[in-house]
Amino acid sequence: MHVLKWLGCAAIGATMFFAGSSAFAVTIGFSQVGDEGDWRPAWSKDMQEEAKKEGIDLKFADAQGKEEEQLKAVRSFIAQKVDAIIIAPVVVTGWDQVLGEAKKAGIPVFLADRDVDTADKSLFVTRISADFNLEGRLAGAWLAQASKGNCNIVELQGTTGAAPAIERKKGFEAVISLFPNMKIVKTQSGNFTTDGGKQVMEAFIKSTDNLKGICGVFAHNDNMQLGAIQAMKEAGLKPGKDFLLVSVDYVPAEKEALAAGDANASVELRSAIGKYIYPVVTDYLKDKKELPKWIVIPSDLHTAATPGN
Ligand code: AHR
Repeated sequence: MHVLKWLGCAAIGATMFFAGSSAFAVTIGFSQVGDEGDWRPAWSKDMQEEAKKEGIDLKFADAQGKEEEQLKAVRSFIAQKVDAIIIAPVVVTGWDQVLGEAKKAGIPVFLADRDVDTADKSLFVTRISADFNLEGRLAGAWLAQASKGNCNIVELQGTTGAAPAIERKKGFEAVISLFPNMKIVKTQSGNFTTDGGKQVMEAFIKSTDNLKGICGVFAHNDNMQLGAIQAMKEAGLKPGKDFLLVSVDYVPAEKEALAAGDANASVELRSAIGKYIYPVVTDYLKDKKELPKWIVIPSDLHTAATPGN
């Protein structure tokens, strides 16, 4: 594992290469999950703007949350003979075949944000992402401290089978398992969306007689938490005051919820990360130097009292 040196990050690599006497621009195919929530569109915009700045010819494909669309996009990138492929995989499974096809075609694949579950790590060069497990642990540690280790929790999970849903849950559970009086009493996927979070919370409110006995809500992302806040307010409850709310992303709408006292903490998932991802790809295209299999982007937790920059 390699932690990106956040402030002293390496200068952005040049994106023109020389074959014999002629220069050619780099073409990169990027298969993005979709545009759920606020974080992902912000990251998509950043990737497109950074590519433009760097003179990278970016072929951007939005999979609308469907893995089959991602597989199609990756095969189309291979057919177009792009120089490199970046994938943010919807779910962790089902990648070996298409990654093998890219390898056979000699096109290096980079994972960004989400992970894949493959035994053959040679199928991709590296993954550049935050540590989702750490995000879950930070959320769990915050809740343990805020509740003094006494908390019945409802959990809003992200997309089933997606790396952040798997790892945030694992990390969170690892921490709360250290506290005998902390447990998850209700858990369901809200698919990383505001509507999903709202619907799941409405159902939880009904099935627990207005969240009786519940002290905290852990949402795998802010958008689900924002939906939960709406549902709680509509039911006459006071999120952030009578219930401790912690989630992940730290998007602008969540910052507002923290400032208004409707939520209590959020772990930041940085979205302006194209400037760190592209140099990794373009440097690799230049020197083919072996990279660590995971380049980690730092995460930190914010509250209204510690908003950061
Ligand atoms: O993969 C990262 C997660 O995906 C973000 O936390 C969430 O908002 C997004 O949809």
